[in-house]
Amino acid sequence: MELKIKSEKQYHDYYKKSIENPEKFWGEIANNFTWHKKWNSVVEYDFTIPKIEWFKGAKGNITENCLDRHLETIGKKTAIIWEPNNPKDKAIHLSYNELHKKVSQFANVLKNNGAKKGDRICLYMPMVPELAIAVLACARIGAVHSVVFAGFSSKALASRIDDAKCSILLTADGAFRGSKTIDLKSIADQALEMSSSIETTIVLKRINSDITLTKNQKWWHEEVKNASETCQAEIIDAEDMLFILYTSGSTGKPKGMVHTFAGYMVNTAFTFQNVFQYEKDDVYWCTADIGWITGHSYIVYGPLLQGATTLMFEGIPTFPDGGRFWEVVEKHKVNQFYTAPTAIRALEKFPLELVTKHDLSSLKVLGSVGEPINEEAWHWYDTHIGKGKCPIVDTWWQTETGAMMIASLAGITPQKPTFATLPMIGVQPVLLDENGALIKTNPAEGRLAIQFPWPSIARTIYGNHQRYKETYFSTFKGKYFTGDGALRDENGFYRITGRVDDVVIVSGHNLGTAPIENAIDEHKKIVECAVVGYPHDIKGNALYAYVILYDNVIGDDTLKKEINNLISKQIGPIAKCDKIQFVTGLPKTRSGKIMRRILRKIASNDMENLGDISTLLNPDCVKSIISERL
Ligand code: WT7
Repeated sequence: MELKIKSEKQYHDYYKKSIENPEKFWGEIANNFTWHKKWNSVVEYDFTIPKIEWFKGAKGNITENCLDRHLETIGKKTAIIWEPNNPKDKAIHLSYNELHKKVSQFANVLKNNGAKKGDRICLYMPMVPELAIAVLACARIGAVHSVVFAGFSSKALASRIDDAKCSILLTADGAFRGSKTIDLKSIADQALEMSSSIETTIVLKRINSDITLTKNQKWWHEEVKNASETCQAEIIDAEDMLFILYTSGSTGKPKGMVHTFAGYMVNTAFTFQNVFQYEKDDVYWCTADIGWITGHSYIVYGPLLQGATTLMFEGIPTFPDGGRFWEVVEKHKVNQFYTAPTAIRALEKFPLELVTKHDLSSLKVLGSVGEPINEEAWHWYDTHIGKGKCPIVDTWWQTETGAMMIASLAGITPQKPTFATLPMIGVQPVLLDENGALIKTNPAEGRLAIQFPWPSIARTIYGNHQRYKETYFSTFKGKYFTGDGALRDENGFYRITGRVDDVVIVSGHNLGTAPIENAIDEHKKIVECAVVGYPHDIKGNALYAYVILYDNVIGDDTLKKEINNLISKQIGPIAKCDKIQFVTGLPKTRSGKIMRRILRKIASNDMENLGDISTLLNPDCVKSIISERL
């Protein structure tokens, strides 16, 4: 069966087949890939344990599918275009042949440093080609990559290194970010002091900073010099781990989501192809960082599996000015452009001239991901970037889902502003009310759950299967709970309304409020605090902290700075609070649980809908919080 969907009728046909007989359908789709051994069964699952297996018994390697199988046909085609932070520096084009060599070579570097199948390798790197190469090199030898976004603090990095017991750390001497440089190496060094499992660190020279390496630290370029450019792919099992990627949860520790080889491969390739309608000579650009799932699935794996040209951008949307994205689109004649609503909202604020002075006529498809896209941003994107001619695919999915779950297929299925629209092939969404009852009518609003596994679902939380079960499979028995709320219109189109738990999406970054509260609580003047999200024009959501100080004193700006510094240190600057209100009490239930729902309403200036506060332990504090609201 062809992997490519070419008409709306075919979408419905595929969808029906994928629901009525998932084994047959996905088996036929999987036949499009290179395997060393085919599967014994397509899907086996039990959401109550939970246990999920796809293509059990199959053997292969994802890099053979991303690289080797393309060499004969498109070896000379550009696989990766790399656009540097500074537009004055030269872009790099790596062909499939070259990428294959570089990946094999770095795979040998990893092997020379003792890495073997199943070992965890941590990557803390800037958006340079070496990051994509290293990710693929891990996969080549069957090692498990754990990429940590380079904006995270040393503490956050250390806890991720320890959680997965990574033995090798790949990092750089620094990173360029707009007009600034970031001292990655000293952050990494601090993390190494706080963690214990790393045996070897390999350091890429990116900014030529003046650093010296200590024992067990090696230069990337030195290691590469001695490594051969051929490396046979390690043949692994369908359900062997491919990578771990951390996402924040509503309680303390980040969750190391585990993705496995075969199902992830089949579904990222399938969704990439069909949502973006990629054609042979197109240039595709996803602006995400490889430190997030979007970068894993739709900068590296999905596009390379489909033999696409994928653009990697090192910089930021506002350097040297707010027209950088459009300059890059023009320069590389980008055909598919995939970004986040927060970026669109930020760029909308710049003079339109920064858009109009660039030739954007290469664009065919626009994409959005990470949070709900508001009406205004949708229309600006459509009118000024797509010139009313490019379908917009609003893609809803999660780190946990591995691949897009609800999205339109560009130019094939209908779009509707602010709606992610229809489920992807094989995805069976349902809406449930608060009691877990299925809502069958349309239109409807409820909690979004998925009632059947799809090939790229995360299989567990690394080292904590119980937490996996509790977080995703316990709210509604026998179903995967997304944590999101959604509307469904009369045509069955879904619109995601946002998180219903204690996760806040700030500028497209998924942040748990609990770890931020823990960071604030470390301040010795602070008794207790609560952090909630509230709507923000550009970031989508921003963070609002309510803080109680000892002796009920009221804090000043210096203390606010100290609080944000603590957050920066513990988690990273992305988790800083925009508003910090000093209060004398927090609304609590009789069992002592902070009622964040009320604080969320106050932060959002939605005081009419506070609900019944009479059952609170301390209803009086609500009044004073409101009167001093920021
Ligand atoms: C959460 C997952 C998927 C890659 C980026 C984020 C929100 C994501 C959309 C969208 C509305 C969206 C959800 C989801 N979200 N895409 N198109 N419309 N909301 O991955 O960090 O795992 O966050 O992002 O709330 O649960 P993530």
